[in-house]
This record gives sequence, C-alpha cells and structure tokens, in this order.
Amino acid sequence: MANISVTGASCRLEPSLTADAIRLGSLSAVSPPALERLIAELPEPPWDVELAPDDDLLGDLLAAGFEQYAEADVLARSLEGSRTNPPPPGVKIGPYRNDWSEPFAEAEERAMAESAFYAEMAAPTGYEQADHLTGFFAATAGTEVLGFIQATLPQGWINWFGVVPEHRRRGIGRALLSEVVSAAREARGTHLAGIVASESARAFFAAERFEVRNRRLLLIRRS
Ligand SMILES: CC(C)(COP(=O)(O)OP(=O)(O)OC[C@H]1O[C@@H](n2cnc3c(N)ncnc32)[C@H](O)[C@@H]1OP(=O)(O)O)[C@@H](O)C(=O)NCCC(=O)NCCS
Repeated sequence: MANISVTGASCRLEPSLTADAIRLGSLSAVSPPALERLIAELPEPPWDVELAPDDDLLGDLLAAGFEQYAEADVLARSLEGSRTNPPPPGVKIGPYRNDWSEPFAEAEERAMAESAFYAEMAAPTGYEQADHLTGFFAATAGTEVLGFIQATLPQGWINWFGVVPEHRRRGIGRALLSEVVSAAREARGTHLAGIVASESARAFFAAERFEVRNRRLLLIRRS
C-alpha cells in the first residue's frame, strides 16, 4: 500500500474488492485538474473507488472516465442475541478446504452471478485456494459445494457469501452465517458487517436483523 499525493489531491493504493483493480482509498481532490494530476501518477488501471452518493468528487470522477458498477449498502449487526441455526438435512457445514477448489469455483460462479463485485472480478477469484483465511466455511452435500461464507475476524467483516440458486431459501445461508457468528464470538468480536449490492442479499440481511449504516457507490475506471 502506498500513498500518492500531488498538489491538491491524494489517495492511498489499496487492494480492491474486484481483485483485479487497485482501490484508490481516502481519495481527495480539490478540483478536476488536481484529480488529473493525481491520475497521471497512478500505476496502470483498472482503478476502483468507493464513495458516498453525495460526495463532491462523484461528478469529477465520472467526467474523468470512471463508471459506476454498483450501488451498495453497508450493513451491520451486533453479535448479541444471535441464534444458532443448523443446516438443513443432508447439508454439512465445515471449514473450507482447498481440495474443494473445483466444485467451489463452479458454485461461486453460479452463486455470485448477480453480484456486481463478482462481475468485476477476474475468475478465479483466489477464494478457491484460500483455506488459510479466517472465518471461511463451506456448505457441502457429498462432493458438491452448495454455499460459502468468509469473514475477517475478529472484525466480523463479511467479504464473500453465496448459496447456489437452486438451494436458496432452505436455510443454508442462515446456517453459514451462524458459523461465522460462533467464530466471531470465539475471536472476541462484537459485530458483523458487510457491503451488499444484490436484492437477495439485502432481503437476507434484513431478515437477519442487520441494519443499513450507509450507502456507497462503487466506481471503476477500466483503462
Ligand atoms: C444472500 C444468500 C447467500 C442467502 O442464502 P439462502 O441460503 O437463500 O438464505 P436462507 O435460506 O438462509 O434465508 C434466510 C431468510 O432470509 C430471507 N431471504 C433470503 N433470501 C431472500 C429473498 N431472495 N427474498 C426475500 N427474503 C429472502 C428470508 O427471510 C429467509 O427465510 P425464509 O426462507 O424462511 O423466509 C443468497 O441469496 C445468495 O447467494 N445471493 C447472491 C450472492 C450475494 O449477493 N451475496 C452477498 C454479497 S457478498
């Protein structure tokens, strides 16, 4: 991670949700020329920016060739009062294993088809080989992967979460979330949070009593 600054503009280069792009964190620019000066100092695009819908920079970024790729809600909930929900019959939930990488990648492609984040990522996403990550669980039936969740612990930030379409509304998402709740408690976390851009995820998290903390726009400049 590096800080880039020019007269009137600065940002920090960070990893992006889209895997491929560079996230321009803490971006500020006092004017379009200052933004152009900063852009001239950046490594090769794509670049990705997250900002509030009323941020003054929005117009300047759109004029500088950035496109909006998602409108997302940041959601959060306290761990207090969470119930444990077992998976439905025939479905097992356990820590993710890299030897599931093939069925995982297939499930990921189908589960995340409606996710604006996945659409911007280059498959493979890297999660298929990421059993070292904290809070990473998969729901399986035999050799098939039906769903997955991964959260940074103890912070409780949910990075990746999906259930394949034909197994939705069976309680698999709820059971996966329960695993993360238990792991977050063990790690002495206090909250869960995440950023969602799909209708199914908004409905799921509302049913799970997450509250919307703020709204974010995600912009990308591809070249
Ligand atoms: C979000 C997601 C993981 C939920 O998985 P799921 O296994 O279907 O969730 P559950 O069956 O445990 O649902 C629990 C409750 O959430 C609510 N819910 C879930 N999906 C819903 C939907 N599409 N519409 C309305 N309510 C919904 C319901 O109250 C449901 O309980 P019910 O079925 O008894 O009514 C799944 O919809 C998904 O993969 N979405 C696309 C990927 C994505 O956007 N991921 C999040 C961002 S990383």
